[in-house]
Amino acid sequence: MLEHIENFAKLFLNKTHNQKIQLIGHFDTDGITSTAVLTKTLDRSGKFFTTKIMKQLSSEEIDKLPKDKVLLFVDLASGSIEKLNQLNNTIFIIDHHEIKITTELRENFYILNPHIYEDSLDLCSAELAYLFSRAISEDNKDLASLAILGMIGDTMEKNINKIRNLIIKESEVRIKKGFLLYPSTRPLNKALEYSSRPFIPGITGEKHKVIELLKEAGIEKIGKTYKALIDLSDEEMKNLSTAIMLRLNPQEAHDYIGNLYLVKFFNKIEDARELSAIINACSRMDNSNIALLFCLGNKEARKKAEKMYLKYRQHIISGLKYVDTCEKIQGKNYVIINAKDNIKDTIIGTIASILSFSSVYKEGTIIVAMAYNEDKIKVSMRMAGRKGSGRNLKELVESLTQSLGNGEYGGHKYAAGCTIKLEDEQKFIELVQRKLQIEMVKM
Ligand code: C5P
Ligand code: C5P
Repeated sequence: MLEHIENFAKLFLNKTHNQKIQLIGHFDTDGITSTAVLTKTLDRSGKFFTTKIMKQLSSEEIDKLPKDKVLLFVDLASGSIEKLNQLNNTIFIIDHHEIKITTELRENFYILNPHIYEDSLDLCSAELAYLFSRAISEDNKDLASLAILGMIGDTMEKNINKIRNLIIKESEVRIKKGFLLYPSTRPLNKALEYSSRPFIPGITGEKHKVIELLKEAGIEKIGKTYKALIDLSDEEMKNLSTAIMLRLNPQEAHDYIGNLYLVKFFNKIEDARELSAIINACSRMDNSNIALLFCLGNKEARKKAEKMYLKYRQHIISGLKYVDTCEKIQGKNYVIINAKDNIKDTIIGTIASILSFSSVYKEGTIIVAMAYNEDKIKVSMRMAGRKGSGRNLKELVESLTQSLGNGEYGGHKYAAGCTIKLEDEQKFIELVQRKLQIEMVKM
């Protein structure tokens, strides 16, 4: 793989000589951090380029792409190969989403995607962008911590492979074992009150109960405030973990014991998980440019990003409360949550992810969450427990959109999504029900 990346980087330098480049990145944490890595890389290589962040690469967006520039896509485009193959631009795609190439690629169309070489190789786009960047110049090794943020954004930190290990080493992160609560660098009472991953029943959103839990764990106030998670002694960390675990289901609790990744950012030690959440929050609150500037080290952007993060967390908490009480369509192996316009379309995926990591639905349940976006509906699907049933959600959204006859889709085995027309709302729900019920009978 590394050798292939070296060749891809050489080819890129060659084909972009004296050419203008349009860099297009996806709007989630992995996409933004990838775009930041590539922005720095192109800038340092003296390339002429402009950058754009997109929620998704729709047909309308493809039609609007510049005709006279080299197109460099990152963390998106794997679902649009056929359409892009019809353009005349030189195209480079760096992405890790599942890809199916059904037509022969024309000249000047290059793809860096681990699924093409080694399907089991689990790398996020920011890691691929970083490997590409360091293949262009050794001087870019300082960008490794951005790759770590992307990797954490895509929750891949538990699967350490050889390449990921190399990136971790190069990023100089410090790793501390503990309960994965965030923000780990802020006072614990706040971290617990706002905790959405995990959502701690009876604690999240409950100020007074948080203080009781801290007392139970033997963690006292120091002056006016509480210690942060990263400052706890081993003993305190153990007591806190026990107190939280008593309130969660054992399997779920076990998933939250792991490594904290502490990276140097703006010359301060920060929790990679928190930085990654801030980036994600800006984008989901429709401010991906601030997220990108934040990754590039802009101080003003940092202040704005932190404010946005607070607002975003309030949105998540109210979204989860809404899901808790709203009417749902519950099948044997699936649940459909149609939030309509009660949850932002950019947040519905996060809500679905949180539910899939919690113990609300049994392992293997397919969570189908829907939210309105003007005349469209954003659908996010997640497999509860990220395990089970041998079903592939990317294939499921593919077949659903095909049956509908329209809709952009994409994703992975356990997390996939699509956008459909608002007028297809009922038809889509019926299709999901029919498809999953029939599959149940077949099994
Ligand atoms: O692939 P993409 O970066 O766009 O994924 C975004 C969402 O999919 C996140 O919620 C992430 O946690 C989830 N995901 C997952 N399993 C994977 C890859 C992504 O749950 N293997
Ligand atoms: O949007 P959501 O977080 O539900 O997306 C889950 C996964 O599906 C992500 O990897 C995302 O990039 C992918 N997806 C896609 N095309 C869409 C919607 C989602 O590739 N139209």
